[in-house]
Amino acid sequence: MTQGLATRTIHAGETTDVHGSPSMPVYNTTTFRFASTAALLDVVEGRKPGSLYTRYGLNPTIQSLEAQLASIEEAESAWVFCSGMAAETSVFFAYGRKGIVCIGDAYGGTLELLDAQLPQLGIETHLILGRELDRLEPLLESGPRLVFLETPSNPALEIIDIAAVADIAHRHGALLVVDNTFASPVNQRPLELGADLVVHSATKYLGGHSDITAGC
Ligand SMILES: Cc1ncc(COP(=O)(O)O)c(C=O)c1O
Repeated sequence: MTQGLATRTIHAGETTDVHGSPSMPVYNTTTFRFASTAALLDVVEGRKPGSLYTRYGLNPTIQSLEAQLASIEEAESAWVFCSGMAAETSVFFAYGRKGIVCIGDAYGGTLELLDAQLPQLGIETHLILGRELDRLEPLLESGPRLVFLETPSNPALEIIDIAAVADIAHRHGALLVVDNTFASPVNQRPLELGADLVVHSATKYLGGHSDITAGC
């Protein structure tokens, strides 16, 4: 992670290519060269911003992509992952340890994670149907602090009212995370409707050409 490291904010659309490429090049490198140990330490110890190590996200390509994604979702910030499932798993581990309620239909891999794998790791999960919103309040009173939903869902295109669920979740101190893969930010921005977090399988419409696997 990047805590303690100085990170220069790269804005949406900004390129830092020294050769003047009009779009952000892919910096296909794991790490970056420093002129001296002192220059490396300035970045590692947070005195100066800089590119450092790609897994930390301190790579200009990643930072530019995150800025673009945050901009189109109108989010404070975004993190990219190597798949949609990696993004979802990270959200569930970070915010779902007190329990997760999933509302309605969702992508099969997500349902398997919620129904089979997370409970094996001791994370309590509850799956309710989209028409069973009346079950949400009693469930949240029993402890879960994360609500997840996917709208429109893959593959049944089930629609859930994001604002209504956000209202119930917030009244119980829970966060709402929405999988916005199918609508894409072009058609729906869950944060504007009250959601706290958005996840994407960027493998789908954000990528758009079936040539990358990614998540955010
Ligand atoms: C709605 C939705 N969420 C998440 C995923 C998982 O994404 P990935 O395949 O990028 O791990 C998919 C994959 O089909 C999906 O359709």
